[in-house]
Amino acid sequence: MKRRLHLNLFIYGRGHHEAAWRHPLSSSRALTNIEHLIDCARIAEAAHFDSIFLADVLNLPPDVGSSARLWLEPLTALSAIAHATSRIGLIGTASTSHTEPFNLARQFCSLDHISGGRAGWNIVTSFSIAGSRNFGGAGRLSHADRYDKGEEFVRVVKALWNSWGDDAVVDDRAGGVYIRKDRVREIAHKGESFDVAGPLNLPRSPQGWPVLVQAGSSDTGRAFAARHAEAIFTAHIEKHTAQAFYRDIKARAVAAGRTPEQLLILPGISAMIGGTETEAVRLLQELNELADIKVGLSRLSDRFDGTDFSAIPLDRPLKTDDFPDPADNESSRGRTELIVGAVRRERPTMRQLLAKLAGARGHFVMAGTPEQVADTLEDWLDTGAADGFNVMPPVLPWMLEAFTGQVVPILKRRGRFREAYEGQTLREHYGLPRPPA
Ligand SMILES: Cc1cc2nc3c(=O)[nH]c(=O)nc-3n(C[C@H](O)[C@H](O)[C@H](O)COP(=O)(O)O)c2cc1C
Repeated sequence: MKRRLHLNLFIYGRGHHEAAWRHPLSSSRALTNIEHLIDCARIAEAAHFDSIFLADVLNLPPDVGSSARLWLEPLTALSAIAHATSRIGLIGTASTSHTEPFNLARQFCSLDHISGGRAGWNIVTSFSIAGSRNFGGAGRLSHADRYDKGEEFVRVVKALWNSWGDDAVVDDRAGGVYIRKDRVREIAHKGESFDVAGPLNLPRSPQGWPVLVQAGSSDTGRAFAARHAEAIFTAHIEKHTAQAFYRDIKARAVAAGRTPEQLLILPGISAMIGGTETEAVRLLQELNELADIKVGLSRLSDRFDGTDFSAIPLDRPLKTDDFPDPADNESSRGRTELIVGAVRRERPTMRQLLAKLAGARGHFVMAGTPEQVADTLEDWLDTGAADGFNVMPPVLPWMLEAFTGQVVPILKRRGRFREAYEGQTLREHYGLPRPPA
């Protein structure tokens, strides 16, 4: 049997392209309207996608005046979506830097109960300086300290989820026994950043724990993922860097005592789909023309710890010297390495670089026919670049409908994607084991 791929839908405003919100075919609903998210989740569920994913940042983006970038709080939104869907996995982002492990363990345990075992946690350490100002004003921790704190945070959360045995609740009305107390225990955690007694005040959820997802690509981020992640979202402009990432992560997972199958790698793909390649390219060009250079510069600055790039002429080829060294970057190190790598190889102008990033913030962007998109997915799957994909439609729901209506049927015909759901939980969709209590 041919190897099948996994598909996650990354729902992001009216689409992943920077200018999607202005496009006449993007959703006309308000960004705060839950029905938009439910529409997208239902389209993906009808096509048998494994999961949907909601990202999160903890500040109002500075460019929001001319770019529609705001969204509902993910866990609240996913609880509503859980009720409007029945099979699709629900992955939400939450930060290890700006909440407490007990709160987060309880919230995701609740979502897993509410959804019947469909929850996933995208673990982020929150790289934004502006976001950290909303939590105490002391400024952001360094890259290394964020990951150290994140490590302890995840260990505490896992201990809380494990503080109940699967058989703790007996709910015996006649005998007057609700839980077996010997199946629930304290965790008594005292560490560098957290002091948590436990146990959790909720029974173990259908999946044991939600699926753990991670998306850091720096050396520290990869080591963290190899220890904890069960799925990884990752950004690659080209296949060869995705292949190198794939090899590296699988090797690290094995070195950490896990099997390669216990960690799925899902690179992002943003596909503009047309009846012909020429039409798809034209559609993408039209969208690029709606993008605002000022917004692109502001987002680039955000990635590079606030560096101001506005003095660089838009039409001269860039040099790596135009950028601070990614090794010194305290924000999003993996993504800055990717951008500086593309500058080194291709010498684009600032205008060309911003157009490239406008598509999907540094993820793989393509324009083609449904067959070409399906061919690309199969090729990445067969050449060691991916276990599946984080589908990032440039315009929502328009290009999601094109993907589910035209690309997914080809993948199904070729035996590359499930014809129907075979399991109930997100772990079952992803083929991941349920953690023992
Ligand atoms: C697909 C994808 C989604 C992400 N979503 C979020 C998010 O919602 N919130 C966030 O703070 N960071 C998000 N990130 C960023 C990563 O979690 C990570 O913080 C960032 O890549 C910096 O880590 P690094 O320095 O290890 O690369 C995302 C990254 C990727 C590739």
